[in-house]
Amino acid sequence: MNMEIAPSILSVYQQDIYAIIQELERIGIRFLHLDVMDNVFVPNFTFDETFIQRLRKDSHLIFDTHLMIQEPETTMAKYIEAGADLITFHFEATDNVQALMDIIHQSGKKVGIAIKPKTPVEVLQPYLHQLDLVLVMSVEPGFGGQLFQATMLDKVKWLKEQKENHHYSYWIEIDGGMNQDTLPLAKKAGVDIAVVGTYFFKGKNIEQKWKECKQL
Ligand code: DX5
Ligand code: ZN
Repeated sequence: MNMEIAPSILSVYQQDIYAIIQELERIGIRFLHLDVMDNVFVPNFTFDETFIQRLRKDSHLIFDTHLMIQEPETTMAKYIEAGADLITFHFEATDNVQALMDIIHQSGKKVGIAIKPKTPVEVLQPYLHQLDLVLVMSVEPGFGGQLFQATMLDKVKWLKEQKENHHYSYWIEIDGGMNQDTLPLAKKAGVDIAVVGTYFFKGKNIEQKWKECKQL
């Protein structure tokens, strides 16, 4: 498949988010990346499931929910109920990886696992056959606008090899520091979904930026 762009609303969610989402839908975006931060797993707070629940009422976009929360097992049910489509939790945030995957799958949602830059990708080996998505963080989670860590592309290449060799079906997603220079590198390495935050919403014209991203 062509590489999908999932806009991250981290830099704009406090603005007129409903108008922004309407515009994203109008121009044909499919994925909306939602960064949930709890101020424990990462030193920043954004929003919780109530915000997602409100957006869900007005949007048919695929809600790609990135949970940067410690012990997601305690609140997972709320995110499932709020209307997330894809639920990605952090490998580093829990001791119950398998149980969490089972809960998400049993609810009919798609499941992803995210890894921070310092976490070796091989820790995911036992879970790869069950995953719908693997999220490779190319910056430390917590803030937008950071510099892309190019060595994270080795994780993408490894995941692509595993996928091809074993016929796995997960999407490979990359998140952090995506722009006109790094998007082509991500595509070449085998990324299926690129999360684009700061670069996507910089400037006035979202449709123009979307066209630029697709051409890269
Ligand atoms: C960072 C978030 C990202 C962030 C990306 O913790 O997970 O989704 O919004 O933003 P940029 O594209 O600015 O690096
Ligand atoms: Zn994210």
